[in-house]
Amino acid sequence: MDIQQEINKRRTFGIVSHPDAGKTTLTEKLLLFGGAIQVAGAVKSNKIKKSATSDFMDIERQRGISVATSVMAFNYKGRKINILDTPGHKDFAEDTYRTLTAVDSVIVVIDVAKGVEEQTEKLVKVCRMRNTPIIVFINKLDREGLDGFDLLDEVEQKLGLTVTPLSWPIGMGQRFQGVYNLYERKLNLFSAHGKQSEEDTIEFSDLSNPELEKYIGDAPAAELREETHMIEEVYPDFDKKDYLEGNLSPVFFGSAINNFGVKELLDCFIEIAPTPLPRVTEERMVDPLEDQFSGFVFKIHANMDPKHRDRIAFMRICSGKFERNTNYLHVRQNRKMKFPNPTAFMAAKKSVVDEAYPGDIVGLYDSGNFKIGDSVTEGEVLHFKGIPSFSPEQFRYVENADPMKAKQLAKGLEQLMDEGVAQLFTKDLDGRKIIGTVGALQFDVIQYRLKHEYGASCRYDPVNLHKACWVTCDDSEKFKEFRNRRKRDMAVDKHGNPVFMAESAWTLKMAQENFPEVEFRFKSEK
Ligand code: G4P
Repeated sequence: MDIQQEINKRRTFGIVSHPDAGKTTLTEKLLLFGGAIQVAGAVKSNKIKKSATSDFMDIERQRGISVATSVMAFNYKGRKINILDTPGHKDFAEDTYRTLTAVDSVIVVIDVAKGVEEQTEKLVKVCRMRNTPIIVFINKLDREGLDGFDLLDEVEQKLGLTVTPLSWPIGMGQRFQGVYNLYERKLNLFSAHGKQSEEDTIEFSDLSNPELEKYIGDAPAAELREETHMIEEVYPDFDKKDYLEGNLSPVFFGSAINNFGVKELLDCFIEIAPTPLPRVTEERMVDPLEDQFSGFVFKIHANMDPKHRDRIAFMRICSGKFERNTNYLHVRQNRKMKFPNPTAFMAAKKSVVDEAYPGDIVGLYDSGNFKIGDSVTEGEVLHFKGIPSFSPEQFRYVENADPMKAKQLAKGLEQLMDEGVAQLFTKDLDGRKIIGTVGALQFDVIQYRLKHEYGASCRYDPVNLHKACWVTCDDSEKFKEFRNRRKRDMAVDKHGNPVFMAESAWTLKMAQENFPEVEFRFKSEK
């Protein structure tokens, strides 16, 4: 098979949702279709039971588990599908955001009863910045929930998407009878627990056909006709080009736990979802079809066993063919590297691979050479763009608690920051170090890992900060003046970029007003 065919086969995507909407359940059903797992519960049993107060041992366990579930690949109807896990826990937000840089499209899962929730909003915002094509799956139709049209309004308003339903529910909760598949013009009748049979799918090209009453009853049939009429009036026709450009999101309805509507979703997905897309680098656009291999690291996982300091760096292949035991260029370090044991994640199993193609993710064993965003190529110097660091919202001073272990602390902090666990800032004025995170739990994780993996101890001191923003200015004189005037609020990030550490929303506003020439960014992109 040539590289073009390999690329055409691949679909690499992520499922995003607010916790509890059904992401794990849907993933599992997709894996069942692909024959990647044989029994329901295989993914699920890995999942942490969520509790109101998640203690940080959860995170430790999650770290172990998420290596296994980071990428799940399976074959379906001649396609190779790579699902990238986007951890749903609140405190994993940064990791999740970064995973979105390695996918070509996403499926957003929404709970019919809860509608659009906070985490979904945040994640979709990131997808929209990147024009990632989005399919929406409204889940749990076997339960009472919001009216279909109200939900679509909410999706449009809160997520800023233009939507068009490709299936439409017939009742919900106790009265849920199935969906009408507007894409294939078929009636799919619901029966619980995935016991759908062939007879439950009926070709129905014309809904005015009086046969409809036989299947779903008089009132629901009338309602369905009226609603599909409204859909035609209100929503645009599905257009694949608009979807691929991130301008139109098709919507499906179903019930993941009952395996209802999942096959329709998957069948449509493989038809319309993009094959591996070109990637932007600082130097040029990289096309997947290029002969020369290139890829970038979007996620790094520490080994769970503290005795083995090695880590797994997850690399997305962007162009060419990746081969085992071949000399490649680690661009940032400007040196050649070989990978004797690249790992792929097929059918929920890890195995060593000899080759991989654009869209694939390989796990590289790493003894500390990689940082998030690093590129690997056949020789060309390329820096992939769009791997964001987000403005942290929780801050603490970090101090060495064991003077004999200063070196270990410095090394541990450096490596954890490279993994993207949190961000480290150094104050201009006194050189004190501040850790910034998206979620408060990360502080415990850092302390724990420093102790167990590096033998270092740290102490946190409170610091009163509202936000860290990256600052730039075209006018170097003005910038100098700004940095001098705000000296006590200035710091640098780990790359040496200047950062304004705002004490409050008010200080930030004042700084922005007083220095209109300075650009304040809440996200730094590599
Ligand atoms: P997440 O990964 O997005 O956090 O969600 P997950 O799949 O774990 O689903 C959250 C809960 O919603 C689970 O129940 C799951 O069984 C349930 N669920 C998923 N899809 C559907 C659906 O279509 N209909 C209904 N009624 N429920 C659904 P749980 O009680 O938290 O876990 P479990 O005891 O079922 O394992």
